[in-house]
Amino acid sequence: MHHIQMCILVSVAMASLLYILHRGPSVSGVKESSLSGTPITQPQKNTLHIAVVVCGQRVQETLVMIKSAILFNHYQELIKFLIFTEDRLREIFKEKLEDWRKLLPHLFDFELFPLSFPSQSKKEWRNLFKPCASQRLFLPSLLPEVDSLLYVDTDVLFLSPISDVWEYFYKFNDSQLAALTPEHENENIGWYNRFARHPYYGRLGVNSGVMLMNLTRMRKFEWEKHILPIHNEYRLRITWGDQDIINILFYYHPDKLYIIPCEYNYRPDHCMYMSICTSSQKGIKIIHGNRGYFHSDKQPLFRIIYEAIEKYQVGTSPYQNFLLPLQSSLIQQNINDSNCGKISNQAVLIANNLFINEYL
Ligand SMILES: *[C@@H]1O[C@H](CO)[C@@H](O)[C@H](O)[C@H]1NC(C)=O
Ligand SMILES: *[C@@H]1O[C@H](CO)[C@@H](O)[C@H](O)[C@H]1NC(C)=O
Ligand SMILES: *[C@@H]1O[C@H](CO)[C@@H](O)[C@H](O)[C@H]1NC(C)=O
Repeated sequence: MHHIQMCILVSVAMASLLYILHRGPSVSGVKESSLSGTPITQPQKNTLHIAVVVCGQRVQETLVMIKSAILFNHYQELIKFLIFTEDRLREIFKEKLEDWRKLLPHLFDFELFPLSFPSQSKKEWRNLFKPCASQRLFLPSLLPEVDSLLYVDTDVLFLSPISDVWEYFYKFNDSQLAALTPEHENENIGWYNRFARHPYYGRLGVNSGVMLMNLTRMRKFEWEKHILPIHNEYRLRITWGDQDIINILFYYHPDKLYIIPCEYNYRPDHCMYMSICTSSQKGIKIIHGNRGYFHSDKQPLFRIIYEAIEKYQVGTSPYQNFLLPLQSSLIQQNINDSNCGKISNQAVLIANNLFINEYL
């Protein structure tokens, strides 16, 4: 038994070392290995799981999210997408993702799951928020084999490698089982501090669109046993469904939550009045077009980024077919008139550093 544990430890250490060597500086440095163009095989690498729950009209948006993770998978991590969706949508995902997997074998995998809820009060959960969003509250028991995952809403896009946000798992102390970003940065425009009629985490609450979940720890904590009584007590006072439940839970258990900075869940609220996410100066890592901003002209930066990823063809040059078209759209469609347009350099910062070297 001891021997096996040692082997695992050594493997993990080797994998981490390879990872660190291979990864290099994440933002500003020139990465040597990307010049050679030969993929480095790392058989011992962990699989990074990304979970998403999709109902209704969200299929295309979800495929663009998945494509963004693949596009920014510059360090060739093994990514596995866990997709919970309605039966009628499963074929669409299967067809598209099988095509992509043929183009990039060994780099990503996916698995489709039916929606399922605890048998007790099934219907109520399903109607709690936008169709099926509360599904993610039950991931610890629905995925008993998975240690950890990154949950994202369908209206989220990666602008950096997933390994970047994944690093935060290793910063957890012994009690932390999940990580989230604050719902807001500023009291004057915060939602929870002004309107909530229930307790919430911290000063301004947390946003649940991007969530690192250590399922092993959540199972040990018996997460779901905490969720049901919270729902029963507060259901008439909550507005944002599962996000409010998560806020209430972490109000009672603040030691269980790790807070990650706003550039990992960058939303229109961070720039629509003025720029309030100060740490995004080092680059926006994950962008979240909540309230439909990827599909509207209210802050065109969000739509332009979404469209650049939507148009990119999997397996082709990120520099030629993503970065260059994105840069020219940002110049052409005079986005300086909008407040979020003023921080467009922050949104392309990581892409500039990762993809530009290809042709140096
Ligand atoms: C999740 O927590 C378990 C139990 O503490 C730990 O063994 C595992 O390494 C953690 N996973 C990650 C990705 O940090
Ligand atoms: C982990 O960090 C949180 C937040 O700083 C803190 O409340 C908690 O007590 C810490 N847990 C341990 C075991 O140190
Ligand atoms: C937008 O503003 C930035 C900084 O103020 C400037 O460098 C850029 O040229 C402007 N772009 C357009 C299209 O006006």
